Amino acid sequence: MALHKYPVRRLAEDPGNVLDRRRWPASLPPVAQILDQGLDLTPATVLVGENGSGKSTLVEAIALAYGLSAEGGSTGARHTTRSTESLLADHLQLVRNAGATRRGYFLRAETMHGFFTYLEKNPSLSGPDIPFHDMSHGESFLELAVGRFRGPGCGCWTNQNPRCPSRGVSPCWPS
Ligand SMILES: Nc1ncnc2c1ncn2[C@@H]1O[C@H](COP(=O)(O)OP(=O)(O)OP(=O)(O)O)[C@@H](O)[C@H]1O
Ligand SMILES: [Mg+2]
Repeated sequence: MALHKYPVRRLAEDPGNVLDRRRWPASLPPVAQILDQGLDLTPATVLVGENGSGKSTLVEAIALAYGLSAEGGSTGARHTTRSTESLLADHLQLVRNAGATRRGYFLRAETMHGFFTYLEKNPSLSGPDIPFHDMSHGESFLELAVGRFRGPGCGCWTNQNPRCPSRGVSPCWPS
């Protein structure tokens, strides 16, 4: 992908819809910093931090602001079981690179079980059905990453560490 063609180059707060800094999630320091200063994104931006620091809250808001479903999937997926997302997406502006793709995929460990059931009920029209439920977490993640992350697009990943022992902070993937 040409460097200037990656989908989103900056996050910023919507100046016309400012979020109250005393309320969650703006009360989380990383969220407040991005709201105050914005954040320039690169072709691959990795967020690393302690458990509960706000990584998933941020990634989820970016995915929602991009047009993805809070519970994961591609831009077309509308898989929803229970709404838990913060209001942050409503207050974020994504600065897109002109002419870049609008495709994207949100892969989140917390909802993968339900998302795989959704995929079983909504088989792919373009490829073979993959028995994700019959795979280990790591196998299913790698199968999804190889099979679905093709071509340009915005990939939002949370807590994906199939090659690493379970620990608070994932050293391999944005968590
Ligand atoms: N609906 C909510 N209302 C208030 N606080 C919440 C809500 N949901 C999550 N939080 C809090 O927001 C903080 C950030 O949560 P988040 O899931 O973004 O953390 P994280 O950095 O992804 O952590 P982990 O590494 O454990 O996945 C946590 O302290 C969490 O308890
Ligand atoms: Mg998380």
